[in-house]
Amino acid sequence: MSKIILRNLFKNFTTTQGELVSVLEGINLEVADGEFVCLVGKSGCGKTTLLRIIAGLEQPSAGEILIDNNLVKKPDPLIGMVFQEDRLFPWRTVRRNVEFGLELRKMAKHYRQQAVEKYLRLVGLESFADALPYELSGGMKQRAAIARALVNEPDVILMDEPFGALDAQTRNQMQEELLEIWVHRSRTVLFVTHSVDEAVMLADRVLVLAPHPGRIQCEYRLSMPRPRDRLSNEFIKSRREILEALNKAR
Ligand SMILES: Nc1ncnc2c1ncn2[C@@H]1O[C@H](COP(=O)(O)OP(=O)(O)O)[C@@H](O)[C@H]1O
Ligand SMILES: [Mg+2]
Repeated sequence: MSKIILRNLFKNFTTTQGELVSVLEGINLEVADGEFVCLVGKSGCGKTTLLRIIAGLEQPSAGEILIDNNLVKKPDPLIGMVFQEDRLFPWRTVRRNVEFGLELRKMAKHYRQQAVEKYLRLVGLESFADALPYELSGGMKQRAAIARALVNEPDVILMDEPFGALDAQTRNQMQEELLEIWVHRSRTVLFVTHSVDEAVMLADRVLVLAPHPGRIQCEYRLSMPRPRDRLSNEFIKSRREILEALNKAR
């Protein structure tokens, strides 16, 4: 069954000079329940815009988005989003940042406490529950942001270059942790990155976007078992193929 369906999605923006720019053109996509899909594409090709439209944060100019066969028209707690910057509230502790969505949804206090504990443990931040964001490293901030999205138990999680600002080692570690969280395919993940290496490490399927206007140029299915070995021939071969496609995409 398809979890997410995008039908003939278009998005235009009007610049401050009054010029109409086409950012996304005719995006069609079906993502299966539990699938991990990565979108790769050059900067400016509409990746963030596409995620924001799927999240219901932005309206498409034409076309429709269905999640579980229901039209997406506004943000829904069933869709979790993690951004490139952590976007934590600086004045709230880690615990109270993670709790935020549950407060909005007016969940009972004992439920909130249990759920927050569970997801802080899952991302390994239980001993930092009472820290403020400025006391955390970049990787820890992104873990807190992931816990904040997961605590609402979304079926769909949209991630916009979430590890883009991290150093290489922390980034690799976060990729492994994310796969552990996802491993039971209990969630459908749409993950934007400009790193082909990251996409090949994570995805069941990689979509290569072409720029101006953003379109899906081609797609690759990856069936290597996880955890994947970056040094294996298959990994290197997939990485090269996708890199070449990305360089040709225009
Ligand atoms: N609110 C907006 N108004 C006008 N243009 C926008 C707006 N948001 C994004 N754009 C333009 O849309 C294009 C795609 O942006 P974006 O989705 O952020 O790309 P990516 O995430 O792939 O780097 C860019 O050219 C950007 O300038
Ligand atoms: Mg972006």
